[in-house]
Amino acid sequence: MFQRILFLFARRFVAGLTMEEAVTAVRRLNQTGIQATLDVLGENVSEARDADAARLSYLATLDSIQSHRIQSNVSLKLTQMGLDIGRDFCLANLASICERARSYQNFVRIDMEGSGYTEKNLSLFETCFERSGNAGIVLQAYLHRTEKDLERVISLGGRIRLCKGAYKEPPERALQTMPEIRRNFLRLTEILLERGDYPAIATHDDYLIHRVKQMAAERGVPRDRFEFQMLYGIRPETQRRLAEEGYRMRVYVPYGTHWLPYFYRRLRERKENVLFVARNFFKR
Ligand code: FDA
Repeated sequence: MFQRILFLFARRFVAGLTMEEAVTAVRRLNQTGIQATLDVLGENVSEARDADAARLSYLATLDSIQSHRIQSNVSLKLTQMGLDIGRDFCLANLASICERARSYQNFVRIDMEGSGYTEKNLSLFETCFERSGNAGIVLQAYLHRTEKDLERVISLGGRIRLCKGAYKEPPERALQTMPEIRRNFLRLTEILLERGDYPAIATHDDYLIHRVKQMAAERGVPRDRFEFQMLYGIRPETQRRLAEEGYRMRVYVPYGTHWLPYFYRRLRERKENVLFVARNFFKR
């Protein structure tokens, strides 16, 4: 009952519980010139059968993208593919998804999780990228280590999505204030625009978006050499406006039954969200 009520609030950020709902959401975005990346919600699985179910859901999602001719790739988390169970097991699951994606000339983005997983995620990405070439990774501007990681991925020729970072991290590992994170985000974006392969700039932050547009214009980087990315349900007018201005825009569209941890991260990002849910919850 509690979960069902909570899901009413989560609906803003989650396209639905089923693939059909997700396909409908992507089709709507595509109609306004926006591409998508579909995320089958789930993370930190501890049972092999759950990782296997997640792998099958991703294969079905890729089949569905192809059969419905929608413009979308997929994003996944390695802890959902069994990283906590074993590296080889996780790699086999990831490889199976990349292979299916490659058969459709599609692409798989590996989301970045808490800093305890950064090195493992990068190492798995590198192995997978060397084999299949159609995987990319996410790096988080708040981590002190990210500039080195960015150089590491660029030297391999891999594609990077840069975001601020959504997990709670200690000061030894991550910048703690917004001005510092923004400064680092822009420094890293500068490198990506100069030397990265089709970087994805994932933010809803107006200041950063404005500066990235300026940087790209000053360096003569064409609008089709990078893309902006945002999350489903957050700043949809800005998403449409950027697409209308001729920028590549991709929206991260999560769906599925394991929506709670994702929803929790979206709540934590903004105090207003928590207050909104709390106020309306007690009104019921
Ligand atoms: P910021 O938090 O400063 O928000 C700017 C404005 O955007 C706010 O003023 C508000 O208007 C709006 N906004 C932002 N978040 C909102 C919310 N939750 N609810 C309502 N409005 C909101 N992180 C990670 O650690 N690993 C990952 O793999 C990814 N992947 C990823 C993909 C994509 C496509 C995006 C856009 C983001 C991620 N993130 C992520 C999340 C990212 O790290 C970060 O937590 C959020 O994007 C929020 O930071 P912003 O830069 O958007 O700005």
